[in-house]
Amino acid sequence: MSNVLMIKANDRPLEQSVTVQMYETFVKTYRDTHPDDVVTELDLFALNLPNYGNTALTALFKRSQGQELTPEETNIADLVRVHIDQFLASDKVVIAFPLWNYAAPAPLITYLSYLAQAGTMFRYTPEGPVGLAGGRKVVLLNARGGIYSTENMAPFEGAIRFVKSNLMLWGITPEEIIIEGHNQMPAEAKDIIQKGLDQTAKYAVTF
Ligand SMILES: Cc1cc2nc3c(=O)[nH]c(=O)nc-3n(C[C@H](O)[C@H](O)[C@H](O)COP(=O)(O)O)c2cc1C
Repeated sequence: MSNVLMIKANDRPLEQSVTVQMYETFVKTYRDTHPDDVVTELDLFALNLPNYGNTALTALFKRSQGQELTPEETNIADLVRVHIDQFLASDKVVIAFPLWNYAAPAPLITYLSYLAQAGTMFRYTPEGPVGLAGGRKVVLLNARGGIYSTENMAPFEGAIRFVKSNLMLWGITPEEIIIEGHNQMPAEAKDIIQKGLDQTAKYAVTF
């Protein structure tokens, strides 16, 4: 039996969103083919996490020093702890997110900022950072309307790159399923999306 964390970072309706379709396809196929696993779904837009900034940084510093926290600081330090514990308790993680304005949606950036704690997810050494959260399987489900798999466009892609960089810092090398080009090539959109959803379902069976 595995603990599986399924994370959705898109609040658009299913019929309008390719990444929500990838997410729902994965969740359904995985549940059907792994009935004994424990699946936890995390909807990052619904979670409405406070922005990660000075309140969080001060809260975490004070907690590490055993100092007294304000109620707002206590709330955010507890949220950081809860999400780190949940992530580390999972054997497998699925993250579905679109490319928006060359980046990942803000709630996913906030969520990963909560997790990215030195000393817990990675540690610094004289030879460079070492990941502390390896040993779990992670797959990224991503869609983007344009084509970024070409050499000239790849530097502009900032969603997969951002998520992957963080995971690799933590010692995790994720798999990726990417649907791309359906806005750029509308005549082929239906086929591109269907092919990607079929690939997503196939992958979920053996994940
Ligand atoms: C606010 C917004 C920004 C977007 N920015 C980009 C972009 O920078 N590059 C791109 O190729 N597609 C962009 N798209 C198109 C999406 O990547 C495309 O719709 C893809 O299917 C992922 O979004 P979806 O899951 O909501 O369908 C954008 C779409 C929206 C709604």
